[in-house]
Amino acid sequence: MGKKILVTGATGYIGSHTVVELQQSGYQVIAVDDLSNSTEKIMDLVSKISGRRPFFEKLDLSDEPAIRAFFAEHSDISGVIHFAAFKAVGESVEFPLKYYRNNLFGLINLLNCMQEHHIGHLVFSSSCTVYGEPDKLPVNEKAPVKKALSPYGNTKQISEEIIEDTCGVSDLKAISLRYFNPIGAHESGLIGELPIGVPNNLVPFITQTAIGKRSKLKVFGQDYNTPDGTCIRDYIHVTDLAKAHVVAVKRMLENQGESRYEIFNLGTGKGYSVLETIKAFEKVSKVKLNYEITERRPGDVPKVWADTTYANLKLGWKAEKGLEEMMASAWKWEKNLASGILEQI
Ligand code: UD1
Repeated sequence: MGKKILVTGATGYIGSHTVVELQQSGYQVIAVDDLSNSTEKIMDLVSKISGRRPFFEKLDLSDEPAIRAFFAEHSDISGVIHFAAFKAVGESVEFPLKYYRNNLFGLINLLNCMQEHHIGHLVFSSSCTVYGEPDKLPVNEKAPVKKALSPYGNTKQISEEIIEDTCGVSDLKAISLRYFNPIGAHESGLIGELPIGVPNNLVPFITQTAIGKRSKLKVFGQDYNTPDGTCIRDYIHVTDLAKAHVVAVKRMLENQGESRYEIFNLGTGKGYSVLETIKAFEKVSKVKLNYEITERRPGDVPKVWADTTYANLKLGWKAEKGLEEMMASAWKWEKNLASGILEQI
């Protein structure tokens, strides 16, 4: 049996895809989630893909007695991938304390327990949001961290600092992975993004509009300084992203890191506008999307895409899937959801 990896936030979008990739690479997965934004049924679907059911426990990391009890039972963990966090930018502006409490207390409790049980490897789920509006594009890991535009973004920045400071004074080794825009779904069509309520992010909004759950997509602004006037993002397939986590864990377990704390951008290195994204969706789905141009969304960065040189070179990892493949997989997942895939299990 392979080494045991704890995945927090394991029933979430990126967490579930990473559990599959870990299992397929021979690791044993211990999966936890507080199920505040997901369902345990995801573990059934994960098991269908990998053929193995990961151990799962419902756990709120900000509940200190609960996390202590959990680690007392599972002290033979070799490494942790920490996804568990709230991630809705708008909600974080409205309820900052909810975000600081959940995202920061959860991390601090986790790090305390890891120290007590001598678990020395952590992969942290960070975001390109830490760069704000970058001065130079593509943006590399040396670019300055700008003042966060939301409490959500701030929790990512503070979390990175907490982890870096802890690495400096303990046995902890950690890697922060700064994601650009993860989209798409597993090729099996069995797992994907599962937004509760109205989606905030572009691609679930596109697929929900195409399937008829939403009447119209709003394109937030066409007056940006970009070729077609809409914002540019670096969209990365969630499976490519998940694979990078497996590589990061392996890098630490095999002692290949160059320092105790490392940071890598995870993107494709290519930027696409909102309109290009819509066009790619229409091409692969053959559905004409109902959309209109509206006002800008406050806080949106006009353009950002990654310099992935460092991740490509040091991790030996590269995103492989292109935009059309990403959109096709997101569409397959939306259609599966509509056909009741979650109710059937
Ligand atoms: C942002 C953060 C990201 C964070 C994520 C969490 C940045 C650069 N990125 O992603 O770190 O993890 O939120 O939710 O700060 N759009 C529309 N109509 C819609 C939805 C989106 O036009 O209904 C446009 C947005 O204006 C944007 C693009 O689509 O230009 C992507 O938006 P979205 O999917 O929400 O991601 P980000 O805001 O880039």
